[in-house]
Amino acid sequence: MSQSARRALLKLLASGSALAGLARLGRVLADERTLASASDALDVFDLEAAARRVVPPAHWGYLQTGVDGEVTLRANQAAFSRYELRPRRFVDVSHVDLAVEVLGMKLASPIFLCPVGGLRSVHPEGELAAARAAKAKGALQVLSTVSSCSVEDVTAAREGPVWFQLYTTDQFDITTKLVKRAEAAGCPVVAVTVDLPAGRNLVTYLRMRREDTRVCKGCHASVDERGFPTLGATTKPMFAGIDSRSLAMQSPSLTWDFIKRLKDVTHMKVVIKGIETREDAELAVKNGADGVIVSNHGGRATETGRASIEALPEVVQGVGARIPVLFDSGVRRGTDAYKALALGASAVGIGRAYAWGLGAFGQAGVERVLDVLTTELRLAMVGCGARSVREISAASLIDRRPA
Ligand code: FNR
Repeated sequence: MSQSARRALLKLLASGSALAGLARLGRVLADERTLASASDALDVFDLEAAARRVVPPAHWGYLQTGVDGEVTLRANQAAFSRYELRPRRFVDVSHVDLAVEVLGMKLASPIFLCPVGGLRSVHPEGELAAARAAKAKGALQVLSTVSSCSVEDVTAAREGPVWFQLYTTDQFDITTKLVKRAEAAGCPVVAVTVDLPAGRNLVTYLRMRREDTRVCKGCHASVDERGFPTLGATTKPMFAGIDSRSLAMQSPSLTWDFIKRLKDVTHMKVVIKGIETREDAELAVKNGADGVIVSNHGGRATETGRASIEALPEVVQGVGARIPVLFDSGVRRGTDAYKALALGASAVGIGRAYAWGLGAFGQAGVERVLDVLTTELRLAMVGCGARSVREISAASLIDRRPA
């Protein structure tokens, strides 16, 4: 037993409140879960605990952070409990099919890997390990603009196409270069992230990086006057050969005509990531989007206080089945994915969950996360009598929204 567990036990014995002491002891012991291998993980939280031990504090802070008081981050997960499943009986579920097709891409399961920038911060093989896992599991991977590996290398590791996530930048000629490079690498889809027009307040990250005693400039090419890395720095592989000294990743002045400009310079399908309202869903269709992703960036953009799952129904309504609606933010269980699918999502993205697997065990950890979540989703489908993703419908849910 570790010192912290022993301390908790002593406190328990000394305390008047045995229940509170027991609860604390439980938490401490749970925190001590060790995994010999990725396959020991029973759920994604086991991998979160395992990754926490090996990822350095500043990088851990960056992975886990929300914005401001993290109301949105917490809401993302909590809001799933508002929905309950409606199980149907005597359906022959001896064959359950999780396969889906999204914008012409056949996927083994609707669960996909969201763009997460700089994954070498949690594991040396970064996005390449995620790509190999995506290949092994037939999953879609969306690669970040600020990936720590190039789109060509990731596509080679995936042995097939990935989607490219685009930060708009504030210089369209550079944006065009990024897009053309992704297209040349074989990406069929560009997912343009629109939920970060300018800046955000990553409190947990800023706090945790103070605890990190390492010297950032040992690894980071670009640091500020205090020696901290400049986030989104354009020293990333996708900016090789581009003079990006005065470049910002986003521009606060963009309007809907950006989508048309983007479509004029690429043959890739354009998906808009970060749509949260019916009005914007309608405008996305009107402005030629080929798909939208309902997302609040995992609670890392605007502190709206509103869970991403709460925004899904109105976006589905606004889109009116004209283009696919994908979903992410807060997914930690197969039942979370099931609920998003029931509310009209075509596919469901995970961010932190696979980064935990990656941090703990590299490729094997990402594979384990995909296995755990697809197994949980399959079990929900079996239990509820849905033989295919198409059969997961609005009738599969009860909405317990408080009156
Ligand atoms: C992200 N996300 C993100 N999104 C994006 O469009 N481009 C990016 O480069 C990144 N980078 C990034 C880094 C980290 C560390 C995290 C956690 C997230 C957001 C991501 O694509 C996705 O929307 C959320 O992660 C989904 O929420 P969960 O699954 O993390 O709760």
